[in-house]
Amino acid sequence: ERPLRVALLGCGVVGSAVARLLTEQADDLAARVGAPLQLAGIAVRRLNRHPDVDQSLLTTDAEALVSRDDIDLVVEVIGGIEPVRTLLLNALKSGKSVVSANKALLAEDGATLHAAATANGVDLYYEAAVAGAIPLLRPLRESLAGDRITRVMGIVNGTTNFILSRMDASGAGFAEALAEATALGYAEADPTADVDGFDAAAKAAILAGLAFHTRVTAADVFREGISEVTAADIASANAMGCTVKLLAICERSGTEESPSVAVRVHPAMIPRTHPLAGVGDAYNAVFVEAESAGSLMFYGRGAGAGPTASAVLGDLVAVARNRISGSRGAGESAYADLAVQPIGEV
Ligand code: HSE
Repeated sequence: ERPLRVALLGCGVVGSAVARLLTEQADDLAARVGAPLQLAGIAVRRLNRHPDVDQSLLTTDAEALVSRDDIDLVVEVIGGIEPVRTLLLNALKSGKSVVSANKALLAEDGATLHAAATANGVDLYYEAAVAGAIPLLRPLRESLAGDRITRVMGIVNGTTNFILSRMDASGAGFAEALAEATALGYAEADPTADVDGFDAAAKAAILAGLAFHTRVTAADVFREGISEVTAADIASANAMGCTVKLLAICERSGTEESPSVAVRVHPAMIPRTHPLAGVGDAYNAVFVEAESAGSLMFYGRGAGAGPTASAVLGDLVAVARNRISGSRGAGESAYADLAVQPIGEV
């Protein structure tokens, strides 16, 4: 088989892990796909910052890279809305399948990207955008496509889970636990996206859209972060046999005649006996409840270079296989057009 040629957009911690694994695992990947996956170009911001990758692949012109006729598949690990949205739309419009880890973009404008993928008969996969390597989006899109999902609820932000777990275990205050998370490299230098719930809200929007076959954006999600959670709050939760977790909750709501969805992210008290209470450190865990399947739990590391690269490569194998067989994976299923219920103060 002719090699499938891959353009990699972004070469930070995740991108460089993807580039390395594409080389190290080349034989296994080729066997699984049925053709070699050949890294054909890497778009970066600065050329001289990436000593670990083949220098001849580097370019600062991402637009030219995604437009190249010899590219079959595009992997995006840059993040943010623009210029990535334009780049990915151009890739899809020129017939390339796209794998992205970009939760902010998918949560803001997944509909436009999905429409472009459908119109051009190519794939758009983004397992890495939510909960790292934990298989969650593909099960929602494919394995559970014959069921009716009623609720998706869980811990989808590792940084805040680390902070709340530390506060629970040691009685530390929020600032102290955040400093520890920063020192260990969990929290970013600017931890706002994590601690104020923006990261979890973007993930919740993506999960709700897939679970309920409708369009939900991050702006539709009620959001309250954890910066106001005090040591005293945790102590009172503990006194009631509970711990505190930042939960993302996506529910089917409304009536049978007029169904809607409600999506929210906020700190919640969880009884110690509940499986989510035992999810410590920077782990993620998500419950999916479906009418026929009942309750399913997905658990694992939701962040980090390794888990994120694993999810990206899994998607890459899937879209490459589809390419070879001339088929498409699960496309957009946003047919339900459900109203998103506004939620006031919880
Ligand atoms: N900041 C995120 C987290 C990274 O802590 O979960 C993964 O999206």
